[in-house]
Order: sequence, then structure tokens, then C-alpha cells
Amino acid sequence: MEYGLRRGGVLWWTMVVVVLTCTVCQQPPQLFQVGGKKGWTTGVNYTEWAAQQRLYAGDWLLFRFDKHYYSVLEVNETSYQLCNDQNFITNITRGGRDVFNLTQARPYYFLSGGGYCFQGMKLAINVEVYVPAPLAPPPSKNGVYISTEIQDTITVVVWIALALDFLLKYFY
Ligand SMILES: *[C@@H]1O[C@H](CO)[C@@H](O)[C@H](O)[C@H]1NC(C)=O
Ligand SMILES: *[C@@H]1O[C@H](CO)[C@@H](O)[C@H](O)[C@H]1NC(C)=O
Ligand SMILES: *[C@@H]1O[C@H](CO)[C@@H](O)[C@H](O)[C@H]1NC(C)=O
Ligand SMILES: *[C@@H]1O[C@H](CO)[C@@H](O)[C@H](O)[C@H]1NC(C)=O
Repeated sequence: MEYGLRRGGVLWWTMVVVVLTCTVCQQPPQLFQVGGKKGWTTGVNYTEWAAQQRLYAGDWLLFRFDKHYYSVLEVNETSYQLCNDQNFITNITRGGRDVFNLTQARPYYFLSGGGYCFQGMKLAINVEVYVPAPLAPPPSKNGVYISTEIQDTITVVVWIALALDFLLKYFY
């Protein structure tokens, strides 16, 4: 009896782990528009935006901005913190709809030149290891909001699993 109860729990948790893993790992390369609809501009808290994203190596960032004012420079952590736009690593600025390939799993730092970094145009984002999965990814028209969708899915799956686990324990 004891064993049966525990096995039921283990089975459910195994299922949860499998579903979680596959929900997260199924991601094809995604394109993330920095700042969401607002894009790359002043008055956006990119720390808050970054905290809501989950990026994997191979994903892309899209910076949409007014090139007459703003730019996008990849910098190191020190320069990010100090808003130092000298001796940057890469100048990503092209036409104002510029993409950046996040090829490695590591933190990346970006800022705008021209002093706009001091008005909030700085982004620190961590990129995680991409684990490819054999299963087909769910269709997604717009990659920008995918990570929130995944978070919601995870929350729902966890709650369902917890509810089932509870029911099993009490009625089996
Ligand atoms: C941005 O949001 C973070 C987290 O909510 C907060 O700690 C930080 O002070 C905010 N930055 C600005 C410039 O408002
Ligand atoms: C950019 O990332 C993709 C994966 O999303 C990779 O296959 C490709 O080789 C990269 N391209 C460049 C130019 O680095
Ligand atoms: C970051 O870049 C600045 C400017 O090139 C340089 O002075 C500094 O030593 C670098 N810091 C690190 C930790 O690499
Ligand atoms: C970055 O590149 C853009 C476009 O090539 C150029 O206009 C701009 O001056 C460059 N910025 C810096 C800081 O070199």
C-alpha cells in the first residue's frame, strides 16, 4: 500500500518532468524583439523586459529603433554598468531593424551610444544552452511572446500534475 502510493507520486512527477523538459527544449531558434512592442527606445526598463524572457543559444534579438538617434553596441559587463560606449565589442547598428545572433550560452550586454544609455537604453540578457529535441515544436506565428506562453504552459501543467497527485494520494 505504502509502495503503491509512493509509486503513484513518482509516476506523476516523472510525467511532469518529461512535459516540462519537452515544453522548454522544443524551442526552435526564436526572434525576440527587444522591448516588445515598444522596441529599442528611451523610457523602457529593459531589466524588466529581460527578466520575462528565456533565451537559448541560437536565438536572435531584433532591435527596432530610430537610427537617427539611437544605436546598438555590444559591450562588456563593465561598460554596461558604466554606460561606457567607447571600446565596444560590436556595432550592431545598421538600418534600425537590426538582428543579432546569440550564438553562445552566456550573458550579453548592449547599450545605445549617444548618451541614451543613461536614459535606460541598456540591456543585459542571459542566454542558456539550447537542448534540441526530436519532437516537432508547437506552431508559433510570433516568436516575441513565446516565452510568456511557455511560462503559462508550465504553470498550468504543474498545477494539473499537483491536483492529480493529490487526488491519487487520497482516493487510491
Ligand atoms: C527596472 O526594473 C528593475 C526591476 O523591477 C528595478 O530594480 C530597476 O530599478 C528599474 N530601473 C529603472 C531605471 O527604473
Ligand atoms: C546564427 O544562429 C543560427 C542558429 O539560430 C546558426 O545556425 C547560424 O549559423 C548563426 N549565423 C551566424 C551568421 O552566426
Ligand atoms: C570592458 O571594456 C572596457 C573598455 O574597452 C575595458 O576598459 C575593460 O577592461 C573591460 N572589462 C572587462 C571586464 O573586460
Ligand atoms: C555604428 O555603425 C553605424 C552604421 O554603420 C554608424 O553610423 C555608427 O557611427 C557606428 N557607431 C559607432 C559608435 O561606431
